[in-house]
Order: sequence, then C-alpha cells, then structure tokens
Amino acid sequence: MSTSVQAIFNPLDLGTNLDPFPAYARLRDEAPVYRNAELGFWALSRYDDVRSASQRWELFSSAAGVELDDADELFGIGAGDFLAADPPKHDVLRDAVKRWFTPKSIAELEESVAALCAGHVERVLGGGPVDVARDVAQRLPVEVMCSALGVPDVDRGLIRRLYEELFVREPGSTRVPQIARDAAVSIREYLGSAELRADAAVPLAQALRDAEASGRLSRVEAVDIRVLLLAAGIKTTSGLIGTALHLLAVHPAQRALLLADPTLIAASIEEALRYDSPASWLTRVTTADAEIAGHTIPQGERVLLLYAAANRDERKFERADEFDVQRPAQRHLGFGNGIHFCLGAPLARMELRLLLEALVARVRDFEPAGTPVRLYAPAEREIGSLPLAFDPR
Ligand code: HEM
Repeated sequence: MSTSVQAIFNPLDLGTNLDPFPAYARLRDEAPVYRNAELGFWALSRYDDVRSASQRWELFSSAAGVELDDADELFGIGAGDFLAADPPKHDVLRDAVKRWFTPKSIAELEESVAALCAGHVERVLGGGPVDVARDVAQRLPVEVMCSALGVPDVDRGLIRRLYEELFVREPGSTRVPQIARDAAVSIREYLGSAELRADAAVPLAQALRDAEASGRLSRVEAVDIRVLLLAAGIKTTSGLIGTALHLLAVHPAQRALLLADPTLIAASIEEALRYDSPASWLTRVTTADAEIAGHTIPQGERVLLLYAAANRDERKFERADEFDVQRPAQRHLGFGNGIHFCLGAPLARMELRLLLEALVARVRDFEPAGTPVRLYAPAEREIGSLPLAFDPR
C-alpha cells in the first residue's frame, strides 16, 4: 500500500471528521479493505463488504467493544449492554426489551410524541430565525427517551446536561475526557437510584421494572439496558433530525417536492439516513482470520464498519452523491444490519416523521438563515447549530 493510500483515512482527524465523504470515496475506490497501522484498525467501506461483515457476528465480534477510542470503558461493557455483546448474551438481553420497540408498540407513543412535535413547530414559527439544532433536534429525542424511561419531567434538564457532557470528545484523541467519564457515572447512578415512573402510561419503563421484579433481568442488567437505550437513542436521533432539516434547507428543489407532497416524508427520512448517516460507523474485532473481498484480516484486529461510506457506494446506489427524496426504496445501512440492527429504528423514524408532518402542515417554506456548525464526534454526525427561517402558512 502506498504512503498516500496509508494516509487516506483517520476518523479522529477534525477535518476528516467534519467532511469524511472525500475520504470515503477514496477508500471505496483505492483501498476497500483498508489498514491504518498507526491507529491499529482496518476499515470496510463498500456496501457489499460492510453488509457481509455485519452479518457474520461469529467472525466480526462486538464482545470486545464497538468503539475506536476507549469510549467502551464508559459503560464498562456492562452486564446489560447488548450492543457490545455477541450471542447468546446479546439475544437474551435484546429479547427482554425488543417487543417494546416493534412499530406496533412504538405507535402507542405516537400521540405524546406528536404533541411534543406540535409544540416545537409552534415555537419555531414564533417569528425570526431559529437555531433548530439547539432548540428542536437536541431537545425532542431527550424528551422522548426520558418519557419512555419514566424520567420525571423535572429531571430532564439534568439528563440533557449529563448527556451533552457524555459525548464531549477531543479531536485526535483516543482517550475519552474526564468530563464524559464523570457524566457516565452520574447517568448510571441516576438511572439506578432515581424514582422512575413505571406505570401503564410508560410501557417500556413498566416492562423493564417487571422484568427485574420477575428475575428475568438482574438489577444491574436492567440499569445497564436503561443506560444503553439512553446512550444509543438520543445523539443519533438528534443527528438525524438536524441533518434532515439541513439537507432540506440546502436543497430547495427537494424541499419544494416534500412541502408539496407530504407522502414523500417516509422516503425523505430514508434518504437522509442514507445520504448523511447519523451513525457513521461502529467497530468489531475479528475472532479468526477473516477473508473479505480477496484480503485477509488477521484474528484479533479491530475493524470499522463504515456504514456511512457504504451508503454512498455507487456500486449499490445510482447517483449515490445526490440527495433525492424521490429515490426508490433500497436497503441502506443507516441503522446497521444483522443481529445488531438498530432496536430503536421505528422510534427514530417516528420522531422525525411526526416532526416533518407537523412542519409541513404549518409551514409554507423554510430556508437557511446563517452558517451551520457541525460538532466533532468520532462516530456520529451531528449539527450543533442550524439557523433556519420559517415562512408560516
Ligand atoms: C436516527 C437514529 C438512530 C440511528 C442512526 C441509529 C443507528 C444504529 C446503528 C447503526 C446500530 C447498529 C450498531 C452496530 O452495528 O453495532 C444501532 C444499534 C442500536 N440502537 Fe440505534 N440508532 C438510532 C436510534 C436509536 C434509538 C431511538 C434507540 C433506542 C430507543 C436506539 C437503540 C439502539 C440499540 C439498543 C442498539 C443495539 C442493538 C443490538 O446490539 O442488538 N437507536 N443503532
């Protein structure tokens, strides 16, 4: 491998992190099974390779963690963390909660999430430009997850602050800063000791309490699952909401199509997930020598599954670099694939759908009203500030 190919991809580099797409294109074309010796990882970037690796969990294991930096330590790869686990542990724990994440169960939350969305849309129409990243995208998923887990309303501000601290990272560093470590401890303490609501109005919270009471989950597992849901379900969804609004704001023709025809909302959500995937990648560790696309990745190596790069692969998606809300449905990897396919996908989709429905009903048009600011996050895509101006109907 030439030196220039060697240098193609460092996801912890600030510039690459803020705009990884040129590097992803070079990886797919020049080094589809890429090795970064300095940081000690491999990366897969073509759709077929990422998809295939994500299906072979025996060979591409999650049990040694799914991060590139030491963020796995934040939750100590806890007893109940099934994201960083292989079967059978993974399946037992996922089975304990999966029925509360089916589209049917999630539909029970629709009314309350719709009310939250309507409130946010009312606020953005109050007059003058609004920072929708800060005021909507970063708030709605906190409100939804807190309410699903039974967190009392008065504690939402605390959870939001701890959650922001949990994801503080320094560009270039593989060491998670102390502020994030302290936040992880506080979140775990809170979810293990707070008086969480757990009645019929909060079915997920009730299910977790019942599973614990009946012994199907230990106390530690139940707390870990709450921590996992909170950690996995907020930043990604905030990222999706901000990204979708940004993409629509900077693509006027696509925005006009959507505003004129709300039946395009579902396809627009999938296109945002494909075009600028909120979860860029997760990692695996090989349990034996792994053959992939004619290359051998030795046993015990960390491998990045670049979902975001795979979703721009021209070998799979025609005009992959175009944002097209009318794109015919095709399976993207924005929610991963295989046994770790995102448990919260129906909830994330519903949150953005209800927000867009509320927006389309009340807004004639909207447009950028300032420069968006992207946040540095090693494996996620999120806009920290997104000023938009709205023209009410
Ligand atoms: C747009 C929003 C979201 C995106 C882009 C996203 C993305 C992903 C991806 C890519 C994975 C696969 C991880 C892997 O391959 O190792 C995953 C897993 C997971 N997600 Fe999401 N997620 C989102 C929202 C949510 C929400 C709202 C929740 C919870 C309420 C959630 C909970 C989980 C959990 C528990 C897993 C682990 C599943 C397993 O290991 O079996 N996610 N997510």
